[in-house]
Amino acid sequence: MLLGVTSSYSRSAPVQFQPMKSLTDHASWQRLTAHYQTIKDRSISDLFTDHNGRFDHFSIAAPGLFCDYAKNHIDQTTLSLLSELADDCDLSSAIDRLFAGDIVNATEQRAAWHTALRDPAPNTEIQNAQAKMQQLATDIAGQGYTDILHVGIGGSYLGPAVVHDAFSAIQAPQLRCHFITDENEQALQQLLSRLDPTKTLMIVVSKSFSTAETMVNAKRILPWLQASSSDALEKQLFAVTMNDQAAKAFGVAKAHVFPMWDWVGGRFSLWSTVSLSLVLAFGWDLFSALLSGAHAMDQHFRTQSWTQNLPVILALIAIWYRNFFKAQTQAMIPYHAALRNLPGHLQQLHMESLGKRVTQSGAAMDYDTGAVIWGGVGPSSQHSFHQLLLQGNTCVPIDFMVTQEDHLPYINCLAQAAAMMQGDQSLPAHQRISGNVPSTMLVMKTMNANSLGALLAMYEHKIFVQSVIWDIDAFDQWGVESGKRLAKRLLSNDFEDSVDASTMGLLKGVTQ
Ligand code: F6P
Repeated sequence: MLLGVTSSYSRSAPVQFQPMKSLTDHASWQRLTAHYQTIKDRSISDLFTDHNGRFDHFSIAAPGLFCDYAKNHIDQTTLSLLSELADDCDLSSAIDRLFAGDIVNATEQRAAWHTALRDPAPNTEIQNAQAKMQQLATDIAGQGYTDILHVGIGGSYLGPAVVHDAFSAIQAPQLRCHFITDENEQALQQLLSRLDPTKTLMIVVSKSFSTAETMVNAKRILPWLQASSSDALEKQLFAVTMNDQAAKAFGVAKAHVFPMWDWVGGRFSLWSTVSLSLVLAFGWDLFSALLSGAHAMDQHFRTQSWTQNLPVILALIAIWYRNFFKAQTQAMIPYHAALRNLPGHLQQLHMESLGKRVTQSGAAMDYDTGAVIWGGVGPSSQHSFHQLLLQGNTCVPIDFMVTQEDHLPYINCLAQAAAMMQGDQSLPAHQRISGNVPSTMLVMKTMNANSLGALLAMYEHKIFVQSVIWDIDAFDQWGVESGKRLAKRLLSNDFEDSVDASTMGLLKGVTQ
């Protein structure tokens, strides 16, 4: 039974995913394997030479975004065969199930209904939660509050942090947001010493209300808040959680608990009450524009043919590099300071969703799945890791994200992508630029809530498509849960027989 919240879909009999035909048995997979041999040694520049209109054919105008994916190791045959693979994996039915709120997370017997959160006509539970957020924004207006402490980690932090920075580039916040994630105590106390507890709201964002880092931080802050006035907790303490009982035990007033649902995964939850701090800081209208942008991308994803479908195209290209070029990683490089947290969010979104090694039915697989996602913000990245991209010998497909509003970063980004693809063989050996580095360019006309919503939703759907083709559960994260459990045991000294000698030695304390 969910603590304090009833989910809005009926739990039918447990859904068991029947073993699908193995991915590598599909005829399209066999044809892609043969096609790879014909294209793998051709340079991307050659593919441009042989393909009139390549830019027009390999670009998509999607809601809020324009995507140029011509600088990739693909031709029309590649895309046609990848589209066939999508059909062989029955992608269309999987998309229908996702949007219907069906149980697509089989190992936890849950839906993954983050798309419902941005539906312009949401269900009653979502409507009530949104109204409650708007009401709180109204209630605190003019009360003199200046700061918000958003205490959360993982999906309870990363998504909101991306949106916060982008919103801050669009308009000044009414209240300053401080994200307390894995801060060490000294840094936290230094922050608190700069804030006025009588003017600060504290929001504990935790679906489980038990994540160690979040609870340690929340317990460190509570006395500071409590000491400021007798009714501080009653007026200034809030929780966003599924676990009403734990929130109540922590001291959160019942009316100050905002619901989370088990049919929204943590890394997909920024569209929900998890972003309460953003609604309070920037107002409902901006957050609503974010939801609208995401909904527009949802409609694009549900209606476009595979070759005109941005999330599908990016997913198929990612599979082409992962499974055929054997690329181990993919780089995410936003050329906009407001997107500096985007690589971290995309890291969790991709790696917590696609870092799996068994199929939906629990069978081992004979193909690679999730790549390592990494990156950094440009142009700083040019002074950090672009050297390896330009002269290294590792195939790293890159997604660049850029807006046209700032001319210099835009030109900088285009120049990097072009240089990485074209290379320069005329130079002496040590200076030679190998070239042939693949990249996809995602362009937002301006940094606005609508485009940002579309971009973030696009990646959620890209990841879902990859999970369907790889036949994995994109919405569970059993690996992380095991780490959380062991951490709890070590913290409570409950580990006598089950810890290795190295960890035991370290637990006893480092000698010098
Ligand atoms: O990283 C594992 C995870 O469960 C994420 O999926 C989640 O977003 C994060 O930890 C925080 O969990 P909670 O919101 O329950 O504190």
